Amino acid sequence: KNIVILISGRGSNMEAIVRAFNLEKWSARLCAVISNRADAAGLAFAEKEGIPTRVVSHKDYSDRKSYDAALQAVIDKYRPDLVILAGFMRILTTGFVEHYTGRLINIHPSLLPVFRGLHTHRQALDAGVRVHGATVHFVTPELDGGPVIAQAVVPVLPEDSEDSLADRVLEQEHRLYPRVVRWIVEEKVKLTPEGRVRLADEV
Ligand code: GRF
Repeated sequence: KNIVILISGRGSNMEAIVRAFNLEKWSARLCAVISNRADAAGLAFAEKEGIPTRVVSHKDYSDRKSYDAALQAVIDKYRPDLVILAGFMRILTTGFVEHYTGRLINIHPSLLPVFRGLHTHRQALDAGVRVHGATVHFVTPELDGGPVIAQAVVPVLPEDSEDSLADRVLEQEHRLYPRVVRWIVEEKVKLTPEGRVRLADEV
């Protein structure tokens, strides 16, 4: 399986995936880490790991459609079986998303379908929920609306701030995302033609 990872910043989820890949020796190839920002901190880690990195800057394109087309061209050079969004902070066009149907996954820091969009930890605190978490899902044209593959749950504590809650969720993201990627590499998860997630019995 050829894997391409897209980031925009810190890249801690990408890092967790790369570490699990190295440690567990998945039968897959980490083909490239691609960022829309040249200053993404995660690029240095990928380089250090010997993974090819590319920057496709959104600033070089006048609209989403042309940016997504350029990004798709770069990604497709690697013939990816799986494209992983790991803190990639761009809304993607329907054409791009549909090109990768069943091959494109994202991690979102909430228990979808609640708290889509940005500032999910703030949203959770404002709503007064007692549990919160993260979701890995297949990407569909509806933002943060694709079929759920797996979720991790954390408690919301009375003394929580946005930061303390974000830290607790992030720790779980770093466990959840590599696990799901491994399932996909091992063909234990797939998206059916009807748009549902099918999991193998053993996951
Ligand atoms: C994570 O919280 C992820 O759920 C969200 O963006 C953040 C990215 O963090 N999509 P990092 O770049 O992986 O450290």
